[in-house]
Amino acid sequence: MANDSTDRITAELRKWIAAAPPGAQLPSNRALMAQYGASPVTVQKAVRRLSASGLVESRPGVGTFVRAVRPARPVDYGWQTAALGARQSRTQLLSSTQRTAAPDAIGLHSGYPARELLPERLVRAAIARAARTDAALTRSPAGGLPELQAWFAAELAGTAPAGVRTPSARDALVIPGSQSALSSIFRALIGPGQPLLIESPTYWGAILAAEQAGVTLVPVPAGAAGPDPGEVDRAFRVTGARGFYAQPIFANPTGASWPAGTGRAVLEAVRRHGAFLIEDDWAHDLAIDADPHPLAALDDDGHVIYLRSLTKSVSPALRVAAVVARGPARERILADRAAESMYVSGLLQAATLDVVTQPAWRSHLRGLRQQLRARRDLLLASLREHAPAVHVETLPPGGLNLWARLPEGTDVGRVVRECGTRGLVIAPGTEWFPAEPSGPYIRLNYSGEDPGRFPDAARILGDALEAIG
Ligand SMILES: Cc1ncc(COP(=O)(O)O)c(C=O)c1O
Repeated sequence: MANDSTDRITAELRKWIAAAPPGAQLPSNRALMAQYGASPVTVQKAVRRLSASGLVESRPGVGTFVRAVRPARPVDYGWQTAALGARQSRTQLLSSTQRTAAPDAIGLHSGYPARELLPERLVRAAIARAARTDAALTRSPAGGLPELQAWFAAELAGTAPAGVRTPSARDALVIPGSQSALSSIFRALIGPGQPLLIESPTYWGAILAAEQAGVTLVPVPAGAAGPDPGEVDRAFRVTGARGFYAQPIFANPTGASWPAGTGRAVLEAVRRHGAFLIEDDWAHDLAIDADPHPLAALDDDGHVIYLRSLTKSVSPALRVAAVVARGPARERILADRAAESMYVSGLLQAATLDVVTQPAWRSHLRGLRQQLRARRDLLLASLREHAPAVHVETLPPGGLNLWARLPEGTDVGRVVRECGTRGLVIAPGTEWFPAEPSGPYIRLNYSGEDPGRFPDAARILGDALEAIG
């Protein structure tokens, strides 16, 4: 009976709402009780139903109002397919590393470190201090805050041998994360339809940025010791490419670092062909067993475009990186940045500079090294014990990932899905190849998840591999 009354009042009020303008106030509950001869409970129930279906909103102490947003009608975006045409890029829109995992799932897919690996106290204090400076209310110069530019330049200069002219503060352009720097560099220095050498496998975001910029990718195989310099030289010669995007240190995904001789030989090839080496030093602060020595520190004639990010070591929320470039290349990248976003938030730059100039920053990095080592080794040991069919080719001396090869012929997509149904999220290696994958790989990140769950993760992976046979 009460339900019948609620249904009746709800239906009547729906009609009233359909005719009322957005924002109109519903009669009070007392008035509705009198109007429909109903109890307070019945009226409240009807109003709650209308609220749950989004037709009205209650503002406590004020009343109930017709919502400005009308109930969603079915929408059809089909017309956009004709307007947009076929997709330019073959890459799927969102990488599997950016998926949000279910709260109870074990996530080894994401590329960003867990909170306990970040200098949380330094970051919070720096943000509070930055909020009290002029940076909170003023526009930053296009190239970045001069003090932060100087810090980035000095970091690179710190590893330069004697006799090499070190970069000036002006050469370091502050960028909101190195992902957007990649897009700018590919647009400004390579251009649509032009060839770009790229390691294979390599960072999926670089492949995506290059494809979005219309660049033609020329994959160069890169194994545990990086690329073969002879192959790099040949690729430059055959394609006429003017750029090589590479990660000589702690590469994502393989973890490999180039031997010093490879670095020097690649630099020579780059110079011989009048080209740029786009050196992505993404994991500079994520060293474990070796100290990073960027090739950019050996270059003073503008052949190396150097990328250094702080988003994984300071905070993903501060999102600050830098490009170090010299000569006209610097001007072109800066012009692209101006077209893209004009300048980087001075507040974020000031907070970042505050963090990296605190004495505690250095001790944080020392502690981080130990934590990354423990995590890396635990995940590796767990795989050996519970998923022996998974083969890790390189023990990464830095970075955040294990690059693991599955038994020959394994359907990587099936393994990823099978793990997903068992509560483990991993990234298929396919995304890191600019062309066909050279084998069945997966990438396992040891920095984002609670290491206590690594044995379970390895067990799930081992079981999934057995299940799909
Ligand atoms: C090799 C490499 N380059 C660039 C980036 C982008 O980093 P960010 O935009 O956070 O600086 C990443 C992120 O994982 C990466 O692995």
